[in-house]
Amino acid sequence: MLLVDSENGLYLLLISVHGLMRGHSNELGRDSDTGGQIKYVLELATALASHSQVDRVDILTRSVIDAKIGPDYAQPQEQISDKAFIIRLPCGPRRYLRKEVLWPYLDSFADQALKHIRQVGRIPDIIHSHYADAGYVGNRLSSLLNTPLVFTGHSLGHVKRQRLMAQGVKSENIENQYHISQRIEAEDQVLDNAALVIASTAQEVDEQYSLYDNYQPDRMVVIPPGIDLDRFYPPRRGRFMPPIYGQISRFLTDPDKPMVLALSRADPRKNIATLVRAYAENPQLRELANLVIIAGNRDELASMEKGPRRVLTELMVMIDRYDLYGCIAYPKRHEPEEVPYLYRLAAKSKGLFVNPALTEPFGLTLLEAAASGLPIIATEDGGPRDIIHYCKNGVLIDPMDADRLGEILVEALTDKRQWTRWSKAGIAGTKRHFSWDGHVTKYLKAITRVINKSRKGKKPSIASKSRLPISDRILVCDIDNTLIGDRDALTALLSQLRGIEDHIGFGVATGRRIESAREVLKKWSVPAPDFFITAVGTEIHYGRKLIQDVTWKRHIQHQWEPDDVLHAMKNITGLRLQPRREQREFKISYFIDPEKAPTINGIIRHIRKQKLHVNVVYSHGTYLDILPVRASKGAALRYIADKWGIAVEHILVAGDSGNDEEMLSGETLGVVVGNHSPELEKLRNRERIHFATGEYAWGIIEGIEYYDFLGSFRGKQQTELV
Ligand code: GLC
Ligand code: MG
Repeated sequence: MLLVDSENGLYLLLISVHGLMRGHSNELGRDSDTGGQIKYVLELATALASHSQVDRVDILTRSVIDAKIGPDYAQPQEQISDKAFIIRLPCGPRRYLRKEVLWPYLDSFADQALKHIRQVGRIPDIIHSHYADAGYVGNRLSSLLNTPLVFTGHSLGHVKRQRLMAQGVKSENIENQYHISQRIEAEDQVLDNAALVIASTAQEVDEQYSLYDNYQPDRMVVIPPGIDLDRFYPPRRGRFMPPIYGQISRFLTDPDKPMVLALSRADPRKNIATLVRAYAENPQLRELANLVIIAGNRDELASMEKGPRRVLTELMVMIDRYDLYGCIAYPKRHEPEEVPYLYRLAAKSKGLFVNPALTEPFGLTLLEAAASGLPIIATEDGGPRDIIHYCKNGVLIDPMDADRLGEILVEALTDKRQWTRWSKAGIAGTKRHFSWDGHVTKYLKAITRVINKSRKGKKPSIASKSRLPISDRILVCDIDNTLIGDRDALTALLSQLRGIEDHIGFGVATGRRIESAREVLKKWSVPAPDFFITAVGTEIHYGRKLIQDVTWKRHIQHQWEPDDVLHAMKNITGLRLQPRREQREFKISYFIDPEKAPTINGIIRHIRKQKLHVNVVYSHGTYLDILPVRASKGAALRYIADKWGIAVEHILVAGDSGNDEEMLSGETLGVVVGNHSPELEKLRNRERIHFATGEYAWGIIEGIEYYDFLGSFRGKQQTELV
């Protein structure tokens, strides 16, 4: 069965920016950014890549070059299975940074991602962002590439803010420490753009995403994460004594009693204390079972962070108060590889898994326990409710009621037939409802719908999708007096481009504002270009949706003092400001009367004397534009070429006047149309600048022929690419 109407299998791009991710023995719990999300993304990628309809899965994450962290996280690329890769991209400083401070570097992460896509040579069919930071990046990429965006929040800013407020943290502190409004804003934007949101539970959709302005439940699907059934399976017959058994049994007087197991980070929200109290205050329970608490790893209690330290100290105080010696185990350390053994040990002992967390939107540990044949007792909340609904392998509890919890545990341990039924139902239920195979099937079904929908409605015309990441050359035309001016010529040019348009990108570069550039192209029936360089190179927009390049804006801001420039220009004769709408954030434009005004060099010198740094552009003997030093049509074009990884020598530029000069010169292939203005005469006889005799678009056609731009050119030079 062909899911997607395409000859190729799918190329899926997953983005998960923060934390530490690698292909083997992941350090889950090493810090608070390296936990469930990392595990989920890795397992999702591997499971997807093993599906026959998937060609390639890339996980984009942040590269960390930091001796304290270790060399694995600095490798630019790591293959994790046949068709799955971790791609590590630079993002701000090289050292490890917590996720809350990554915001300023995400634009550059997005730029790096484009370069990567360019190297792969194929536009992904879907971009799936994980968490708000990746959501921000995915938003940018999906607009630039015109690729549908899928989002999984993992946790949400609104929910976090509410929780911190409830704990009495001041909103000012929440802001300073967590940059929470930036996160929430990013989440709202993603929810606006995402074609699909994948949630783990129905509760997440109803109670968490609903807090957002852009809540659109019809675009959300619930697909519970899968678990790795090759790792989590029930104990086999016979003796079973993995090394971790030694770590546990040394705490216990009678290590063969059933184990009541709890496994979580040492986080107050996990509510371990209530479980300890339930156990300690129920003599029958103490008689029946041992309590095994696995609360993260610890070396030195005294030097731990405040949160976990408090949890563990409280635990030890309780052990002492209730004199639980000999019946509770709380090992200092365990390896991630040992977790499956813990569940199997507990299952073998005919024990129980308890998750008394105050809230539990998901609860992966519950699924792991269930798959291991260990019945579960868990807080009545979103995750556990779904799991017990599907697996019928335990009881939901009120996490605040220690007495009742104790009674429930006693009942569950004594009814042996029920225990066996629960154990079997958990194994079967996880296989059926929570395996990665099942997850992948549902996932592919959901994204296929999205992909097909986004492919419909797209006319096969120039720029129906962005070609920049796959094209090996681009044609860039000035608009006035170059592209337009002669209807017949334009028609001839457009029909020439139509056949080969998949390999060739098309852009315009103009002095006009974006609105007016768009309007005039429409009037002349020119199909939407892949990019617009407007306002003499000070603004760049991509695609039909006219996504503005904000990195470019930031780049040209350098040394731009528009008020001082206006002031400095005041007393120069022969200049008149152009209408207000022509004045842009990074462009100050005048009409110039060359008879009355000083020479262009004179004007430049005058501005320099005021210690101002600008770029002065003179065209058509009428216009004078003052721009930031870093801005010009040529600079914008080079920036685009670099960003999309297109060799400058593979760009054909056509122009007619002074503001085209910079983009015509250099390594690009230039063509000056026959009807050009005199200020371009100085380019004659320069290498790689062809002076056409044909006027307007006839000149462009002549240039295309001159360089054989649509023909053998491609074959000849393609090997140099990338
Ligand atoms: C366009 C712009 C104008 C600019 C001129 C030359 O006509 O509207 O503001 O001065 O191009 O670059
Ligand atoms: Mg022009």
